[in-house]
Amino acid sequence: MLILGIETSCDETAAAVVRDGRVILSNVIYSQSDIHSSYGGVVPELASRMHIDTIIPVVTEALGQAGIGLENIDAVGVTRGPGLVGSLLVGLSFAKALAFAIGKPLAGVNHIEGHIAAIFLNEVLPSFPFLALVVSGGHTNTYLVDEKETIKLIGQTRDDAAGEAFDKGAKLLNIGYPGGIVIDRLAQNGNESAVKFPRPLPEGHDFSFSGLKTALLNYVKKNGLPDNSDALANIAASYQEAIVDVLVEKTLRAAELIAVRDIVVCGGVAANSRLRFCMDQETRKRGYRLFIPPLILCTDNAAMIAAAAHRLLIAGHSNGLDLNAVSRFCPDLVRLPV
Ligand code: KG4
Ligand code: ZN
Repeated sequence: MLILGIETSCDETAAAVVRDGRVILSNVIYSQSDIHSSYGGVVPELASRMHIDTIIPVVTEALGQAGIGLENIDAVGVTRGPGLVGSLLVGLSFAKALAFAIGKPLAGVNHIEGHIAAIFLNEVLPSFPFLALVVSGGHTNTYLVDEKETIKLIGQTRDDAAGEAFDKGAKLLNIGYPGGIVIDRLAQNGNESAVKFPRPLPEGHDFSFSGLKTALLNYVKKNGLPDNSDALANIAASYQEAIVDVLVEKTLRAAELIAVRDIVVCGGVAANSRLRFCMDQETRKRGYRLFIPPLILCTDNAAMIAAAAHRLLIAGHSNGLDLNAVSRFCPDLVRLPV
């Protein structure tokens, strides 16, 4: 089954062709970050307009790279939310029109389920049930995913998402956008023990990052912005280390309590080099198997949406042309039962 995936939930216009939910034939991502960077964040109105300009070339490129025509597509998978509603509507309207024109089924995908499904594009697959940490710009959630692919929420952030903590931290340090990748790069030359930032570990399985952000703000207020790159790198590395420590510790505590062996880490922040390294070290030490998608499948892409759509379709889910975009989902509504 050849699925065309479409993703426009934020500032990436993406299209991909995936065979049988496993094999990527093409994965085209047009990032708008250059346009938004001068504003220090995504401007929703601009994002929607850019998606309108780029959706047709991006889909055409995805089909071209896969070496197929529209007549070869068996289904269309598209992100229906959560995300910026104007952006979502561009991809969704396009996908609906296309599915209608070629007379093929349409599957609306929850973006979070998409991030988890990125792991099904791996060569080696995790065994069910597994714990998934979805860590992105909008979400820091842990889920238990079982054989029936019931996706049960275990923990969530009480305030900022980890990606938000990276992005807001970078803004505070005035080092650019998108913050996660800038901090990741800068931190490579820094000392992660230079500044003592708190490790917020709320009770239960939830996360909280707003206190950490405030600690950085207070540090900058007290000491001013550093005047040399070494000091800046030290702050970035220390701040990143606090986020990573919390993500690793909370995830492993949840894995222990739920008694799973396999852990999946996905979403944009899973691209963070320090998180990948520390998760790898700690899971090995404590006897878990770790699965993290390659970098290109961590940040937003449409291959993960096609992979998720494939699983939805074989489980009997598809959507009509009345499918609408949803800006926010209740985090435990990742997939409704068939
Ligand atoms: O999954 P994603 O592409 O979009 C959302 O669904 O939100 O995640 C974007 C988030 C942003 O907050 C970005 O700063 C963060 O992922 N991110 C990173 C890295 N690359 C992207 N955070 C830390 N280190 C990175 N290397
Ligand atoms: Zn995402």
